[in-house]
Amino acid sequence: MEALRDARVVVTGAGGGIGAALARRFAAEGARVVVNDLDADAARKVADEIGAAVVPGDASGIVPAARTALGGGIDVFCANAGVGTGGGPEADDAAWELAWDVNVMAHVRAARALLPEWLERGEGRFVSTVSAAGLLTMIGAAPYSVTKHGALAFAEWLSLTYRHRGVRVHAVCPQGVRTAMLRSAGAAGELVLAPGAIEPEDVAQAVMDGIAEERFLILPHPEVAEYYAARAAEPERWLGGMNKLQRGFEALQTREGGAGAGAAPAAETQAAPEGGRA
Ligand SMILES: NC(=O)c1ccc[n+]([C@@H]2O[C@H](COP(=O)([O-])OP(=O)(O)OC[C@H]3O[C@@H](n4cnc5c(N)ncnc54)[C@H](O)[C@@H]3O)[C@@H](O)[C@H]2O)c1
Repeated sequence: MEALRDARVVVTGAGGGIGAALARRFAAEGARVVVNDLDADAARKVADEIGAAVVPGDASGIVPAARTALGGGIDVFCANAGVGTGGGPEADDAAWELAWDVNVMAHVRAARALLPEWLERGEGRFVSTVSAAGLLTMIGAAPYSVTKHGALAFAEWLSLTYRHRGVRVHAVCPQGVRTAMLRSAGAAGELVLAPGAIEPEDVAQAVMDGIAEERFLILPHPEVAEYYAARAAEPERWLGGMNKLQRGFEALQTREGGAGAGAAPAAETQAAPEGGRA
């Protein structure tokens, strides 16, 4: 894409998974890329492979160092780092706080650091890796669902507040993607997601398409649009379908002799309105 040639791009959580695929794709489009990850070795490996700069550490505070690494400015910021915190209200405060910090506040802090530059220049692009869980919900993972709803709300707010001042915002909302996060979701997650899971490169392609079309909502799984519409139009029916999926999870976990329902896998599991598989 011509618009990305020489663009200065930062991708957080790019030591693996979706972030690494985004970093590779932006580099392939001719962008100058900064790879960030908490895992410094992983970040360095991806950066070396694509000739990018590396700024390791917590995604929350990397804008100044990334800006310096890119020679003084940032055109595209991909707030991609995330944690798949599972459980319900019984998850302890530290788990909720980590999910809030990484999945929401890192986006807020990045935007705080980026907006003065972007508003002065009259351009800038914020790509938020949310999740279908931000539009719908995720079985067995309340901290993840709540904070991804928060990430989507923040991205919407940024978009409507600054679009007339040249700031573009995209919210990327995939279901299952074959990454470490999905693998750590365990056998149940794999079983439910297997038919629908896509590769990180597919998400990167969807992001390129979304940027080319200047679309806010990027849905690498197009069927999510139907689930989202059904949730809005018929919430009772949608909740019933999701509960059916929850009961299916519980039965599966019982059969596997694994954890109870409260510790369901942190996977991107959404039900069709009828409760069908994602
Ligand atoms: N895999 C899926 O099914 C799926 C679906 C929808 C959305 N997502 C979202 O995609 C994003 C990327 O996830 P992924 O699936 O590639 O998982 P992943 O675990 O492969 O990658 C996440 C990366 O983020 C890094 N990270 C975690 N906390 C960080 C922090 N505070 N600062 C910097 N880096 C940090 C991790 O070290 C890891 O390399 C997340 O926001 C996730 O919620 C994933």
